[in-house]
Amino acid sequence: MTIRSIFAAGPYAAVTDGLLDRRKEDVESTAQVLALRRGIWPAKSLSMKGKSEGFVREILLSDEAATCAFGATIAAALKPGDSVALAGDLGAGKTALARAMLRALGVAEDVPSPTFTLVQHYEPPRLNIDHFDLYRIEDESEIEQLGLDESLLNGAALIEWPERAGTRLPAGALHIKMEIAGEHCRRARVSGPAEWASRLHGSERHES
Ligand SMILES: Nc1ncnc2c1ncn2[C@@H]1O[C@H](COP(=O)(O)OP(=O)(O)O)[C@@H](O)[C@H]1O
Ligand SMILES: [Mg+2]
Repeated sequence: MTIRSIFAAGPYAAVTDGLLDRRKEDVESTAQVLALRRGIWPAKSLSMKGKSEGFVREILLSDEAATCAFGATIAAALKPGDSVALAGDLGAGKTALARAMLRALGVAEDVPSPTFTLVQHYEPPRLNIDHFDLYRIEDESEIEQLGLDESLLNGAALIEWPERAGTRLPAGALHIKMEIAGEHCRRARVSGPAEWASRLHGSERHES
């Protein structure tokens, strides 16, 4: 499985030259990578309790089974108060990855995209999960009415179209940007506070 031990390196040694080369056209990403190397990334939006460390990993998910396995790795690390921000274009696989996490947590019922309901609530055995799709949000203030804060008090949140949440996106979120890399292949750019890298590594070890 290609995602095995992807988080095994130390959380601070995450960014490879390969990543820089492959993504040199991606100005925003490259700026973050360079800033991370200088120790100044993440900036405000990803800061956590004053820590400035962060990690970035790029994972190739060669088919839906790989996406399911990656979802299971994240699910095993999830705990109350966590949020996972799932970014990427339409069809990139945000819902597919959220569904993989929910299945791994034991959700047996249908997992529809929350495009129209905006939020779907699940109560699998270990952890309550709210699955948000903020695509239709027009103003950050609507997030409050949707109950994101309550979700984090009672469990964890999976958030599609997290950019719509603006400053209301929880600090400390695990960020995953999905990109289409082929018919069945997806690229996941995983980033966040360094603490997440060790937690994901821990859940990989637990699974294997
Ligand atoms: N490796 C993969 N990971 C995730 N989805 C994949 C993969 N390969 C093909 N797909 C397909 O891509 C589509 C992703 O759709 P969806 O998860 O709804 O995207 P989004 O929520 O980002 O709009 C689904 O039809 C899924 O079957
Ligand atoms: Mg979706």
